[in-house]
Amino acid sequence: MITLWSTVLFGSVVYAATQTVLGPEGADPFKVFRSPHLPAYSIRIQEQNDSICDARSPQFTGWLDIGPKHLFFWYFESQNDPFHDPLTLWMTGGPGDSSMIGLFEEVGPCRINEFGNGTDHNPWAWTKNSSLLFVDQPVDVGFSYIDEGYELPHDSREAAVDMHRFLQLFISEIFPHKQFLPVHLSGESYAGRYIPYLATQILEQNELYKDSPRIPLKSCLVGNGFMSPKDATFGYWETLCTTNPGVPSPIFNKTRCDNMAANMPHCMDLYDICIQHSDPAICHAAQSVCYDGVVGWYDNEAGADGRNRFDITAPCEIDEMCYIEAALIERYLNSPSVWEALSPPQQVTEYKFVATSVIDAFAQSADGMVSSSKQIAFLLANNVDFLAYQGNLDLACNTAGNLRWANSLSWKGQTEFTAKPLLPWVSINSGSQEPVGFAKESQISVGEGTDETSRFAFVTVDNAGHLLPQDRPDVALDMMIRWITGASFV
Ligand SMILES: *[C@@H]1O[C@H](CO)[C@@H](O)[C@H](O)[C@H]1NC(C)=O
Ligand SMILES: *[C@@H]1O[C@H](CO)[C@@H](O)[C@H](O)[C@H]1NC(C)=O
Ligand SMILES: *[C@@H]1O[C@H](CO)[C@@H](O)[C@H](O)[C@H]1NC(C)=O
Ligand SMILES: *[C@@H]1O[C@H](CO)[C@@H](O)[C@H](O)[C@H]1NC(C)=O
Repeated sequence: MITLWSTVLFGSVVYAATQTVLGPEGADPFKVFRSPHLPAYSIRIQEQNDSICDARSPQFTGWLDIGPKHLFFWYFESQNDPFHDPLTLWMTGGPGDSSMIGLFEEVGPCRINEFGNGTDHNPWAWTKNSSLLFVDQPVDVGFSYIDEGYELPHDSREAAVDMHRFLQLFISEIFPHKQFLPVHLSGESYAGRYIPYLATQILEQNELYKDSPRIPLKSCLVGNGFMSPKDATFGYWETLCTTNPGVPSPIFNKTRCDNMAANMPHCMDLYDICIQHSDPAICHAAQSVCYDGVVGWYDNEAGADGRNRFDITAPCEIDEMCYIEAALIERYLNSPSVWEALSPPQQVTEYKFVATSVIDAFAQSADGMVSSSKQIAFLLANNVDFLAYQGNLDLACNTAGNLRWANSLSWKGQTEFTAKPLLPWVSINSGSQEPVGFAKESQISVGEGTDETSRFAFVTVDNAGHLLPQDRPDVALDMMIRWITGASFV
């Protein structure tokens, strides 16, 4: 096969790209890339300037076209050294939530301003020492869209197939130098499902198709992840009935706590049956019993002007996300100036921060009720590091439940990890010697006859909820840089 090498100028940075072909959708302002390896796929991409996102490093937006599926991305170069710093992917959870929440409210280089009509530069952006790629996925989330008459993915495994293709095309064709840089998969909440499946898909495809572009996957880092709904449910009691999350007195009184405790064993038994069978009907039945007996005491009172599932100490300003920022982001991304800059195609009529179509599609499978343990154990056995980090005030994916899950994860390092105590850690960014939370980790040799190791870490942060990087951006950046550079926490 003849490969055409053309040099594409994006601002001041020069990238080499194979086979730059302008397709039918390739009218200005997009450049279209196709791959000799992946003929059915293309990427439409354009450079943006700091007028719509005050990023202070080169940034690009566009869509990846996989047949009828069109995935929107917003990519930022590292502010430090894009040719040597790693690439980090960010996926917000849901299912159905837009990764623009992560960009404009948490880890991106620009944050939505208080009026929802512009952005401020984020001094704690995760672009400080890594390039950062936000993707609206699964398809139909946010600015992503699907052609009429096609089905949406129903689970994290199907969604991972598309995201793996995305990363392949992205690092082999658009930014080819990235083929040799470490890749980290980051995200939050339901990304505790997306990420283990995507990482597994990457490892399997790297192994199966040696002639296709490899993704040099190094680690996963998941904030308040939904790795195990069963453990999250169990953790409701400790989060609401003790002061362990870092509250002066328990949120619930004894009456409610006794009720939850009494209902817990039956709920746990049903979850076990659901996990054994992965059958949507069985799992929905289990979930409904657990909702009535355990989860509903709080969640029934959650929503606008009610309780906040993402921070047991905070008010809930709007439905779904609780934080007003989500509504401001939606307003901003629908504004004429942003719309003009991003040039969405006709099929995209409106930006929404949550896609009910994706929630509905996933509800048809058992994806949201089973655990990601098998996938994560597989990653750790294959030299992919895994960090679970936690804002301690979260209820939805609470620290108590995820610690229980982390200790129960069956892998070679489990014995050592479980035996270790959580120790306080101090953040260099917090400006004090006061611990910001607790941490423990194990680094274990896993390859036979090699000195390759896998690292598994559990890190908590006080006074932060589900959206840890929103609540404590300085601490979150310290944590992220330590993790990608292999530095320890305690
Ligand atoms: C992170 O970026 C800063 C600013 O460019 C640089 O001084 C520092 O050495 C970088 N750290 C690492 C670990 O690359
Ligand atoms: C945003 O709104 C505020 C308050 O209405 C206004 O003062 C400011 O000029 C607006 N900024 C832009 C960029 O429109
Ligand atoms: C416990 O809390 C619930 C909900 O706030 C309240 O309705 C109930 O009256 C409380 N029970 C007691 C005994 O205080
Ligand atoms: C930045 O991009 C906008 C469109 O998104 C354009 O109107 C503006 O002229 C650009 N500014 C500069 C300095 O290139």
